[in-house]
Amino acid sequence: MKPINVGLLGIGTVGGGTFSVLERNRAEISRRAGRAIAITVVADKDLARANSIVAGRARVIDDAWAVVADPGVDIVVELIGGTKVARDLMLKAIDNGKHVVTANKALLANHGNEIFAAAQKKGVMVAFEAAVAGGVPIIKSLREGLAANRIEWIAGIINGTSNFILSEMREKGAGFDDVLKQAQQLGYAEADPTFDIEGIDAAHKLTIMAAIGFGIPMQFAAAYTEGISKLTRDDIQYAEQLGYRIKLLGITRRTPNGIELRVHPTLIPAKRLIANVEGVMNAILVKGDAVGQTMYYGAGAGAEPTASAVVADLVDVARTMTADPEHRVPHLAFQPDQLSDIAILPMGEVVTAYYLRLRVLDKPGVLADITRILADMEISIDAMIQKEPHEGEDQTDIIMLTHRTVEKNVNTAIGRIEALPVVAGKVTRIRLEELDK
Ligand code: HSE
Repeated sequence: MKPINVGLLGIGTVGGGTFSVLERNRAEISRRAGRAIAITVVADKDLARANSIVAGRARVIDDAWAVVADPGVDIVVELIGGTKVARDLMLKAIDNGKHVVTANKALLANHGNEIFAAAQKKGVMVAFEAAVAGGVPIIKSLREGLAANRIEWIAGIINGTSNFILSEMREKGAGFDDVLKQAQQLGYAEADPTFDIEGIDAAHKLTIMAAIGFGIPMQFAAAYTEGISKLTRDDIQYAEQLGYRIKLLGITRRTPNGIELRVHPTLIPAKRLIANVEGVMNAILVKGDAVGQTMYYGAGAGAEPTASAVVADLVDVARTMTADPEHRVPHLAFQPDQLSDIAILPMGEVVTAYYLRLRVLDKPGVLADITRILADMEISIDAMIQKEPHEGEDQTDIIMLTHRTVEKNVNTAIGRIEALPVVAGKVTRIRLEELDK
């Protein structure tokens, strides 16, 4: 059968990995796909770097527009990142009848609805396994492996950089800024580390998983996003003393009132498997009504792990590109005319448990004032520790875990507690999930 010709846009880390994996496993890949898959043209602005990687095995040009217009190209692999030029190039490739494979989570989270609609119209595929959790086949699992289930919730460690920082802070007692620098030196962090540490990268990935888990459009703008940059070593240690680990989790859950879509630091019981996912690794827990909980673990970034997902998509597209579009797996797992319009739940309406840390004057009646406010807002305390004040100090830390409560009540209670004259500074609030059912 005629080989599949691939045009590669961008040959950085993942592009280089894709080139190597396709070449090294050429025979295995063509046995699976039923035909050879070869990168025939590569576009990159840095011609010298591109030529040194490609080493004569494909044509190298600096004009990505020529690749998406090339009649000899069957599939375009978009690895340039960003949401402007990448969007235009992808829409042009689709318009020219090309299938597209991408690792671009920001692009899909922000413009996926438009891109999938265009692809649907043209009868081409847009495959994006590499966009979520690198080499972990979570898209395939959600779209196909779990197709019998009503997905109830998904909770994932889907940003390796943040997980690396939290692991180092807990294991070595290191400070946030020092570990961030280390992550950057090791090449884990995105070019702009804000995307990693403020939860934006995780929210992009969560938006994609929510769409295919629940059959809803991409709604990144409605995602609640809070990162790890304000977490302190003290909070990590107090959580540990209470039997919890703090992880940056992306959580999406179906509730009777709407879909939760939220990324924030989260206390989870230390005994859970996912709490023990350390370093740059990713893990995603999925709860389906029939299967129960399943967990997917692996490298969420890196040249060859991400290339593993890109190449798997190439094999998928190669196998089904001659099939009738109606017989392919829909982009968002559900038939496009069957997407649900169930709304994203505002954060104030989310129900979860909380870790609260308060700095207070160590004198009689303080705890009574605080617990009265909590009782008035119908917030029930599950556990509490009070630290001894340090030598010569009259302030101390109180740490409370609450039962599950609606977030707007916790917001009101925090406001009232912060207004008490015996409370110093801001209350630290970290959400808590048991992830047990
Ligand atoms: N920068 C991301 C992470 C990897 O740290 O997980 C690519 O999504």
